[in-house]
Amino acid sequence: MRILVINGPNINMLGIREPEIYGTQTYDDLCRIVKAHAARRGIEAELYQSNHEGNLVDKIQAAYGKMDGIVLNPAAYTHTSIAILDAVKAVGIPTVEVHLSDLSGRESFRQISYVRAACIKTITGHGIGGYLEAIDYLMDEVL
Ligand code: DQA
Repeated sequence: MRILVINGPNINMLGIREPEIYGTQTYDDLCRIVKAHAARRGIEAELYQSNHEGNLVDKIQAAYGKMDGIVLNPAAYTHTSIAILDAVKAVGIPTVEVHLSDLSGRESFRQISYVRAACIKTITGHGIGGYLEAIDYLMDEVL
C-alpha cells in the first residue's frame, strides 16, 4: 500500500509562518510524524511539497498507476486551482483533502475549495494529526 502526501505552497514554512494559526512544528516534523504513522500501519508514505501549482499537478499525474491513495493539502491553491481539481479527477485515486487550520472560522476567500469536489473526505483544523486521520481513513474505510 502506497500513499502520497502532497503539500502546497508555504507548508515548507511551518514553524515559522503564523505559528498562532499553524503551530510551531516544522515541515520536517510533519514528515517525520507522518512517516512514523505510516510505518506503524505497515504502509509506505511518500511526502512531496511544492510552492508551484504545475509541480503539484505533475506529481498528482505521476501517481497514476503507482499510488493507492493521496492525502492532499493544496494550501492556498485550494481556493484557486481548477488545475489541481482536474488532476485529482484525472487520476481517479482516492484523495483526502487536509488542512491544518480550521477553515470554517477563517476569511471568506478560504471557504471555497475547488479540489473538494474530487475528494472523498475533508479534514480541517486538526493540525498535523489531520494527516494521520486521513491515512487511517484511506486504509480503514477505502482501500
Ligand atoms: C491551509 C489553509 C489555506 O487557506 C492556506 O492558504 C494554507 C494552509 C491549512 O493547512 O490550513 O497555506 O491549507
